[in-house]
Amino acid sequence: MSKNFYITTPIYYPSAKPHMGHAYSSIIADFFARFKRIDGFEVNFLTGTDEHGLKIQRAAENKGVDPLKFCDDISQTFRDLTKILNLTNTDFIRTTENRHKLSVQNIWNELKKNDDIYLSKYSGWYSVSDEAFYGEDEIEEIDGKKQAISSKSNVEWVDEESFFFRLSKWEKALLDHYEKNPDFILPKSRRNEVISFVKNGLKDLSVSRKSFSWGIKVPDDNEHVIYVWLDALTNYLSALNYPNTNDSKYKKFWPASIHLIGKDILRFHAIYWPAFLLAAKIPLPKKIYGHGWILSGDEKMSKSKGNILDPIEMINEFGIDPLRYYLIKEVSFGNDGNISKDKLIDCINSDLANNFGNLCQRVTAFAIKNCGGIIPNKIKFINEDKKLLNKFENNIEAIREKIDNQDINFYIDFIVDCLFDTNKYFNDQEPWNKKDDQIRLNTIVFTTLEIVRKISILLYPIIPKSSLKALKIFNLSEKDIDYSSISNNEFLLKGSEINKIDILFKKIEKNND
Ligand code: ME8
Ligand code: MG
Repeated sequence: MSKNFYITTPIYYPSAKPHMGHAYSSIIADFFARFKRIDGFEVNFLTGTDEHGLKIQRAAENKGVDPLKFCDDISQTFRDLTKILNLTNTDFIRTTENRHKLSVQNIWNELKKNDDIYLSKYSGWYSVSDEAFYGEDEIEEIDGKKQAISSKSNVEWVDEESFFFRLSKWEKALLDHYEKNPDFILPKSRRNEVISFVKNGLKDLSVSRKSFSWGIKVPDDNEHVIYVWLDALTNYLSALNYPNTNDSKYKKFWPASIHLIGKDILRFHAIYWPAFLLAAKIPLPKKIYGHGWILSGDEKMSKSKGNILDPIEMINEFGIDPLRYYLIKEVSFGNDGNISKDKLIDCINSDLANNFGNLCQRVTAFAIKNCGGIIPNKIKFINEDKKLLNKFENNIEAIREKIDNQDINFYIDFIVDCLFDTNKYFNDQEPWNKKDDQIRLNTIVFTTLEIVRKISILLYPIIPKSSLKALKIFNLSEKDIDYSSISNNEFLLKGSEINKIDILFKKIEKNND
């Protein structure tokens, strides 16, 4: 089995600065990237910005600046955010880069060559906010304004010459692919949505625009720019140096293991993108996962609704690890979730400060005082110890499998359970009452330290900074983190020194006014 893993986030529109929804997708992608890496995979992790199209052109016009200059500035804030979120992305792509233009024009030529593109005229509705075409049956009129039913964004009438992609031709091939690959679109509910949409019939898709210029030019017809979604989706290939399919990056990482996206852009990824790829004779990605929305009240948090929580403000107040932990744990993955400062504080206080941080402090302080500050040498496991320790070995494959099914909820529940059990174990075993049985005392300490090590490894993909701090207890650093070592119950080097560490998480007072 190849140990290569390619994960992507959507490339975000730099029409306004990043918000919590963008941070959410990127943090989840980083979680998977880090897990796969500590499990021995070579990981390519791509994110970036989607810079062409009418939405961006208008946003730049509103500010009175040149669109590229406009994108330069906001794209930089997205790039800065990757550092602030502590992402391990291996690339950051901008669709205004040359490597991308070449790749998009190449894919256009492939589609053209295979007779999947023809010239006609588009007359219909268009939402600039979604950069999407809508049929009559997909729009409604509210207060005299026409809007898309699904996104509530305004639509405008378009009437212009346009190149079309023969999407209708691929209907059957798409349905076959969904059928043969039940995990191609996840979660299941979204897969069903897509299948019934395709079964209702696909119309050919307009893939060029003539009434504005901010985009990649259609080869051989400079009056048209390529539809921004055909442009944007191709980024996943551009980053692997497509069209050079002999390139080592392309060979290693295509087809992508997973395109992680929000459910708002499912249709583009689960229908248009595979159809383009089929037409261009390029293998399809293995999986599209459409996660739920972060809500504010009952509504999707979005720039256009102006109801956003600023990730940077939250990070400045609470730190990056608490925010990562909170988003990964509290938004049940796949579903929509409401987030609030209040719940974030509860999460920090109970899970991070009490259950994890406190356990680390307690056992190290106790070991320093009662075991000479070293990993105890003489130990003898009894059933209670083994039962707790073996939980990791017994679940090592299950966890891998759950991760490959994007079951983040299982992963986090496993950690929370282990923390609970370990705190209970330490209390119940009462090592402080075992001072006349040094071997028993040593064994309780050793067992607890081993579990702190294992849990710190499991926490690494979620809260990397804090996990690394905790692993300093044992002088372990990032390069020592190996997922498979959680099955080893005597990994720690007996007799080696235990380091005292600073408090991992400070409890936060709730401000009730
Ligand atoms: O759609 N909750 O860019 P975009 C959760 N450029 N995730 C959210 C979210 C929310 N409230 N709001 C946004 C585009 N997201 C295109 C993508 S890809 C080839 C082109 C996340 O800036 C989520 O991943 O509107 C969503 O799909 C994405 O940001 C949309 O970002
Ligand atoms: Mg959007």
